[in-house]
Amino acid sequence: ASPTDNGTTSHPNGTLQQLPQILIIGVRKGGTRALIEMLSLHSAVAAAQNEVHFFDWESHFQKGLSWYLSQMPYAFPDQLTVEKTPAYFTSSKVPKRIHQMNPDIKLLLILRDPTERVLSDYTQVFYNRLQKHKRYQPIESVLVKDGEINLGYKALNRSLYYVHMQNWLHYFPLESIHVVDGDELIRDPFPEMKKVERFLKLEPQINASNFYFNKTKGFYCLRDHGRERCLHDSKGRAHPHVAPAILQKLYQFFHEPNKKFFELVGRTFNWK
Ligand code: A3P
Repeated sequence: ASPTDNGTTSHPNGTLQQLPQILIIGVRKGGTRALIEMLSLHSAVAAAQNEVHFFDWESHFQKGLSWYLSQMPYAFPDQLTVEKTPAYFTSSKVPKRIHQMNPDIKLLLILRDPTERVLSDYTQVFYNRLQKHKRYQPIESVLVKDGEINLGYKALNRSLYYVHMQNWLHYFPLESIHVVDGDELIRDPFPEMKKVERFLKLEPQINASNFYFNKTKGFYCLRDHGRERCLHDSKGRAHPHVAPAILQKLYQFFHEPNKKFFELVGRTFNWK
């Protein structure tokens, strides 16, 4: 591969590495893996395999754009490159950095019911600790402190979507940010993906037959050129049971923040 002066690195078979024109910025546990996999069904999209963490990790950011470029997949010149790092959405220094790279970049943000997202976040940390043979407090003792919602629990902050969205809207117009309904992407992915295709101005190519419901997994899986595959077992895990009274408190906790988010984006979501 040889570097050129237009921010790309070319490869003998006609492919090249390019800085992403599309970013999936989050939210963590929103369905970001499903979204990038489903977007990859489109022949005009080349997706980075890993979460690059360029804009949020100082040690990566300091390496500069040439390092970022080197992390990108080889793509044909008419393909668009997409990278997803779910932590970008909640990191306040990231929007400015992305804007400096490309103010016209297209941003995809996938959100789901904020309470559901908290339970998913807890479940992820629970399994990460289990892998390291460490224990994690039961969900209810993380969620509640002295009979009230524990405001010190970080996962709650990640579900305060309006707080983070404000940072993004400081740098990008609303038209540059497409919010994907993560609950709908689970329930019926095809219509959500058609909206994504339209937002990205891609030729309509993703088809209903690209998706089939897998009863064993309880989620939609993908059919790509006849090959069928589901997401990894770590996607779509059961969440812990939470007492209805605590759940109710959580729903209430998010009520006002959700309203603020709806006002910011001029659109409502079916969150409890
Ligand atoms: P749960 O495992 O809590 O159910 P991310 O990729 O951002 O970490 O998001 C993971 C979430 O994607 C999963 O959370 C799951 O609900 C959701 N998801 C959406 N579509 C899915 C699909 N087709 N298969 C598996 N998980 C999917």
